[in-house]
Amino acid sequence: MSIVVTGANGQLGSELCRQLGGRALSLDIDTLDLTDSHAVVERMLALRPEAIVNCAAYTQVDKAESEPDRCRAVNAGAVTSLVEACGSLDCPLLQISTDYVFGAVRQPPRPWREDEPTSPQGVYAQTKLEGERIAAGCPKHWIVRTCGLYARPTDPRAANFVRTMVRLGQQRRELAVVADQHCTPTYVPHLVRALLFLTGFDGGRPAPWGVYHVTSAGQTTWCDFAAEIFRRAQLPATVRPITTAEYGATAARPSYSVLDTSAYDRLGGPAMPDWRDALAEYFEEFLR
Ligand SMILES: NC(=O)c1ccc[n+]([C@@H]2O[C@H](COP(=O)([O-])OP(=O)(O)OC[C@H]3O[C@@H](n4cnc5c(N)ncnc54)[C@H](OP(=O)(O)O)[C@@H]3O)[C@@H](O)[C@H]2O)c1
Repeated sequence: MSIVVTGANGQLGSELCRQLGGRALSLDIDTLDLTDSHAVVERMLALRPEAIVNCAAYTQVDKAESEPDRCRAVNAGAVTSLVEACGSLDCPLLQISTDYVFGAVRQPPRPWREDEPTSPQGVYAQTKLEGERIAAGCPKHWIVRTCGLYARPTDPRAANFVRTMVRLGQQRRELAVVADQHCTPTYVPHLVRALLFLTGFDGGRPAPWGVYHVTSAGQTTWCDFAAEIFRRAQLPATVRPITTAEYGATAARPSYSVLDTSAYDRLGGPAMPDWRDALAEYFEEFLR
């Protein structure tokens, strides 16, 4: 079985290619610009994959506010081309999406289910939701929303919160980190294992088409996550809680984007570990 993986140089795409081994047909912007719709359809028809996994995305959330057209072209426009190709090839599309589609204040806090109304704030979130809606037009599709990805420490290119905290924690005694955004950071190797199960790429029966939430288990805040990173990394740095307003990022972030993963859990596949255990696994590899 040959599976096209777009965004194959990214955090998720590279781990997916690693776990798929010889079945992965890896593509990234250096080999195929997904915003070139004609080239995308032509390449897919030439490769004739049995499935397409779209891990490519414009992921720079703040920069997206000043580059909305470029962000939309990647996060939504490219999906249109992939859906067209899937239609011609009669093959399934796995579209990766994000917790950012839930931007509304959640009172009282309760993890978001797949079928609850979305409320994206900011260009990145809006274009990812547009991408979801386009992907849903593919007769055979899975849309997987996830949250707070961090790749293996050995992934040389990965830019993520854990890597940033380790770097800053080595340079500073104290770090101000946002304490009013609730999320579930997710370790990429665990997510990929779940994706292989969900799609049946592991040799099992594929899950029914539709939307699924897959993250590590439990929930935390970026501030508590940072504190746990320093503890695991054996760094003496301390964390000072601040508000989202104090941090002052360009783009809005969800205040509560914990995802209800029970639909995935009911499939009976590999369990997603608690976020603390996942982080411990990251540091086992980091300190090795
Ligand atoms: N990172 C997170 O915390 C997070 C959380 C929830 C959901 N997600 C979703 O998970 C998926 C994977 O995220 P990730 O962290 O692996 O992202 P990533 O590391 O930024 O990888 C995305 C890849 O897509 C490539 N790409 C960008 N524009 C392209 C284009 N026009 N044509 C072809 N390739 C292009 C990027 O290349 P360049 O680097 O050269 O631009 C990069 O290699 C995305 O759908 C993202 O929205 C991510």
